[in-house]
Amino acid sequence: MQKKTIFSGMQATGNLHIGNWLGAARNWAKLSADYNCLYCVVDLHALTVRQDPAQLRNNARSVLAWYIALGINPDENILYFQSHVAEHAELAWILNCYTYMGELNRMTQFKDKSAKNEENINAGLFTYPVLMAADILLFQTHLVPVGDDQRQHVELARDVAQRFNHVYGDIFVIPEGYIPPVGARIMALQDPTRKMSKSDENISNSIFLSDTSDAIIKKFKRAVTDSDGQVRYAPEEKAGVSNLLSIYSCVTGRTPQDCEKDFAGQGYGALKTTVGEALVEAITPYRNEHARLMADTAYLDGIIASGAAQAKVLATSTMARVKKAVGLPK
Ligand code: TYM
Repeated sequence: MQKKTIFSGMQATGNLHIGNWLGAARNWAKLSADYNCLYCVVDLHALTVRQDPAQLRNNARSVLAWYIALGINPDENILYFQSHVAEHAELAWILNCYTYMGELNRMTQFKDKSAKNEENINAGLFTYPVLMAADILLFQTHLVPVGDDQRQHVELARDVAQRFNHVYGDIFVIPEGYIPPVGARIMALQDPTRKMSKSDENISNSIFLSDTSDAIIKKFKRAVTDSDGQVRYAPEEKAGVSNLLSIYSCVTGRTPQDCEKDFAGQGYGALKTTVGEALVEAITPYRNEHARLMADTAYLDGIIASGAAQAKVLATSTMARVKKAVGLPK
């Protein structure tokens, strides 16, 4: 039987943090054997916020190198830059004409991002979810593994695809989100009521994949918990402690409830140290591999070129059907 398709991506802004890994890339690596997968570095999406050009270019390469370092085999999966396949932007324009202002107005990420970037609420920020829908629909994607914060965007992609198909017949596969039961929402260490975010100004809130082992241990030691002293998994009541248990659960592959038992009769100090050390052990080989890949320019260039060429073939085929359906001349 023909394998189904996975598409997912990360923005090329800043450093990846453990939320990006545990909420998304960890599942990409796990699912990749059973699907045809495209993992894209969404550099066009990054332009919705002002970027330093040299830094953006470097970040984009770094994110792609992280994909490989985190276990996504470039010989078996398509890894590429969104801006190398112009069909993303082309389909986004067409889908803009099938998406309602009211739908985009409801997007919580738009509301959050415009509150953070009051001086630059550009149209790209508003239509960002349409470009994301185009990313997904361009490849006839069945499954989109993402963290919880992308749930609403994947829903929109489904709605737009259904609307389009309703008018023109079966042009797009209707995608489904894949959001993991644990790890889909890793919270900020200093404020566990907010999610960990790349753009957070307080670096103590995030564990970056590039952090040194020392920095990781220190950040965990300072993580905000609560005052009742019991290591118990209860995300609503005990956000900080539950966040640490979620991280530990993802790293060990055990349920948070099972992890809880390791700390019976122990305080938060033991929890913070154990989670910090487990994470350091898990991340160190990835960090070393990332450094090795970043130094191997020719190898990365080869993957980038071949990924774009493969993605282009698939994208062209969908675009031909879409253009024909809507009546654009041959
Ligand atoms: P981005 O770059 O913000 O995040 C990349 C992935 O990491 C997940 N994630 C988290 N998971 C758990 N806890 C967190 N604190 C956390 N923070 C981020 C995100 O859910 C995401 O899966 N719009 C997307 C990129 C995108 C995309 C796409 C994704 C563009 N086109 C098409 C899938 C399909 C974004 O900004 O992700």
